[in-house]
Amino acid sequence: MVTRAPYCAGMSIRVGFLGAGLIAAYHAIQLNELRDRAAADPGSAIPPHRIVSVFDPDRDRAAGLAGGQGAEVAADPDEVIDASDVVFVCTWTSEHLPLVRRVAAAGRALFCEKPLSVDLDRSRELVDVVTDAGLVNMVGLVMRSAPTLLVLREMVDDPASGRVMNVVFRDDQYIPTQGMYASTWRGDRSLAGSGALMEHSIHDLDLLEWLFGPVGSISARQSFFHGIDGIEDSVGALIGFDSGATGSLASIWHDVLSRPSQRRMEVFCENATITLVSDDIGPVIRQSSDGEEVVGGDDLIPWLAARGVATPSAEEELLRAVRTQLDGGTAPRLRPDIDDALRAHVLADATYRSAAAGGAPVSVPAVPSR
Ligand SMILES: NC(=O)c1ccc[n+]([C@@H]2O[C@H](COP(=O)([O-])OP(=O)(O)OC[C@H]3O[C@@H](n4cnc5c(N)ncnc54)[C@H](O)[C@@H]3O)[C@@H](O)[C@H]2O)c1
Repeated sequence: MVTRAPYCAGMSIRVGFLGAGLIAAYHAIQLNELRDRAAADPGSAIPPHRIVSVFDPDRDRAAGLAGGQGAEVAADPDEVIDASDVVFVCTWTSEHLPLVRRVAAAGRALFCEKPLSVDLDRSRELVDVVTDAGLVNMVGLVMRSAPTLLVLREMVDDPASGRVMNVVFRDDQYIPTQGMYASTWRGDRSLAGSGALMEHSIHDLDLLEWLFGPVGSISARQSFFHGIDGIEDSVGALIGFDSGATGSLASIWHDVLSRPSQRRMEVFCENATITLVSDDIGPVIRQSSDGEEVVGGDDLIPWLAARGVATPSAEEELLRAVRTQLDGGTAPRLRPDIDDALRAHVLADATYRSAAAGGAPVSVPAVPSR
């Protein structure tokens, strides 16, 4: 067991992992890249850090993640929490709340994967626990830091585009009970909560308000083509924004194994149409009466930098805030945080309530001010 010495200025931030599956490996890769960048540039603002402890009841998985990091394979979650300054909760969804309770009791900084929990009530509970403990926190709504989405947001916010009138957003992937995900838990409502909309398109609900402002009403239908209890695999939602704009979201889990997660969006503004061809490398295309601008691939980050838009990863922002707090300062609010994620759950809940009522429009409560 790692015994955690008190943090002193200049020490490496100690990172722990609860859950050692696919998304944990993704965050570990991001953290390792940051560590390598910091080592290559001693003047960089990236705080030194190391992964110290990992727990997963699947010990082979835990050992796989810990190996090569010099991290301990912990015997239980509390060992990880004891050893760490910041804890990444990357288990399947039903375990987030019980583990976050333990992280909060110990007062550690938190990165919690999305969805927060299996339904709106338990997500609220998680938010209350984290808020009461005053934790530095961030959530895995990582699409907000995708360069393609940041470019799209800049184009939408450009006054020359005019007001947003209509948005067509579709997000499809093969049902992740197969293929590289091979998740048994994503086909079990007690572990996942529900299907395509909450497990996957919670990102999209978050993006819709982040890009276009508050949603006032949702009308939706859902289907269960795969016949898995409580796991919807197709959702169509009609969204009314407070601005007067309209949007539609299609979220689909099919069986086309050559199509992992793919997002496409068309934004119709008064003076421009803006198309996101894919969320990984784009391109993002802005068409107006004056011509067409196409931004994609290696051009995305320089395009953003030229407009003063920084593109730090979520992990980098979290580490900076954790260091500020450990050094005795006040960490800034990180975005997206648990409150942002809760809002996405409110939208998901409204969508499910409308679908349960055969598509009747459901009013969405106003975004709480904070
Ligand atoms: N932000 C994103 O884009 C993104 C992408 C994929 C998954 N996720 C989310 O991340 C979470 C994990 O997904 P995944 O794809 O990595 O799943 P996964 O199946 O690859 O890994 C989940 C792991 O959690 C472990 N686990 C279960 N209970 C545990 C406990 N009490 N303590 C420690 N470990 C425990 C399992 O043994 C498993 O190894 C889910 O909530 C999922 O929705 C987010």
